[in-house]
Amino acid sequence: MNKIAPSLLLCGALAVSCQVSGFSLFDGGFKLGVPGTLSLDDIRASLAEPDAHTPFVPVGPVGMPADLSEFIPEDNPMTKAKVELGRQLYFDPRLSGDGTIACATCHHPDMGWTDNAPVSTGIHGQKGGVSAPTVMNRILGKTQFWDGRAASLEAQAAGPVGNPIEMGFTWERAEKLLREVEGYDMQFQAIFGGPATEETATKAIAAFERTVFAGGSPYDHFERATPFYNLDMEDETDEDLIARYEEAMQGEDDNPMTESAKRGRELFFGKANCSACHVGPDLSDEQFHNIGIGQMGPEPFPGRFAVTGVDADRGATKTPGLHNIVDTAPYMHDGSLKTLTEVILHYKRGGTNTDGTKSPYLSDKIFPLDLNEQEIDDLVEFLEQGLTGEVTPVEIPRLP
Ligand code: HEC
Ligand code: HEC
Repeated sequence: MNKIAPSLLLCGALAVSCQVSGFSLFDGGFKLGVPGTLSLDDIRASLAEPDAHTPFVPVGPVGMPADLSEFIPEDNPMTKAKVELGRQLYFDPRLSGDGTIACATCHHPDMGWTDNAPVSTGIHGQKGGVSAPTVMNRILGKTQFWDGRAASLEAQAAGPVGNPIEMGFTWERAEKLLREVEGYDMQFQAIFGGPATEETATKAIAAFERTVFAGGSPYDHFERATPFYNLDMEDETDEDLIARYEEAMQGEDDNPMTESAKRGRELFFGKANCSACHVGPDLSDEQFHNIGIGQMGPEPFPGRFAVTGVDADRGATKTPGLHNIVDTAPYMHDGSLKTLTEVILHYKRGGTNTDGTKSPYLSDKIFPLDLNEQEIDDLVEFLEQGLTGEVTPVEIPRLP
């Protein structure tokens, strides 16, 4: 399989201009779609590109696993044309009941691929019960949703379109629309060999989502460089190793962690016990834990219990990844914590509710932490400075 860096892939696809470095496409905007339509000639030309239908494995930034092939389902190989189609569908508000809500409305690239609101607002201004998680690094997710009820990105993508308070549409109507819009029909036929269906549309969206990475943070560069400090490189002759060494050293020099962030990292993996759950390439163990959020009142948030029916899973939610966490406030499944300092104070209290009570199902990995002011600041600095890196630049597409 070919390997293509996702940014190149997205810039190369179709005749859209590409943003090279920054995050923001529109200042303060929530605009969906670039004005104008994608001409049939443009679509035809991009579908005819020689590598448009060649399966590839994306390459993530520093910190992601070097080989991501195990994260791509066998029945949904990624191709440039499929990712590009998924990108259009992701930004297309016509997949909602009144033509106003797209996936990007609640998971917008300008807002850390979320909506920066405690809970999301769907069609006709309806509020949902939980906060929209980010779409960054979802390629690594073993399950999707706070309670993990979707086993794959494909299964997840089917949900919002038909959800009456999210996009308020039906897949029947969505299929009809995608077959009627000639530019879409042309792409579905070329990529999947037939007209649009719920299955093929969700496959395309999932393939697109697998290109949205966050990584290459000072922490990732630090981790990549660290093993080399134990090697004696002085008399090394292996050219490949020398090249990797030099790249790692340069990466660390160009992306330094502040001293405070370094101390925060020690705490994170040490006495603050964060890495009991936040481990792995995106700092998530992909497991479910009750850390004491939304557990007050007569109806505590059921979390994983809703899927398994096992008492021990009451109030347990999936450990979120932490890359670029500074972009996705407010925090937790109910958006109840506004800042990263509030998050650390919650852990310092040992996950108790604000009135001092404690969920009977609280994880045994959550207990009061002995942290002074400086240590709290250092942990916040690690989350903010240490874990902020690059995000795949994605241009909001013109639509067919
Ligand atoms: C009205 C807002 C809204 C819209 C529109 C929406 N989402 Fe979401 N999305 C959410 C919320 C809220 C959740 C969390 C729900 C839960 O866990 O119960 C979520 C969860 C997800 C997740 C799981 C992430 C994780 O970490 O587990 C993915 C992936 C996702 N959405 C992608 C999409 C895609 C693709 C679309 C379009 C087909 C879409 N969303 C449309 C609000 C929205
Ligand atoms: C027992 C496992 C566990 C431990 C230990 C733990 N976390 Fe978490 N963390 C979670 C879970 C689960 C959530 C989501 C909880 C929810 O929303 O219901 C979370 C949420 C977060 C969030 C918010 C993420 C978001 O997208 O909203 C941050 C930031 C965070 N943790 C940082 C830390 C830090 C820093 C520590 C150490 C002081 C820590 N965590 C310790 C499991 C854990």
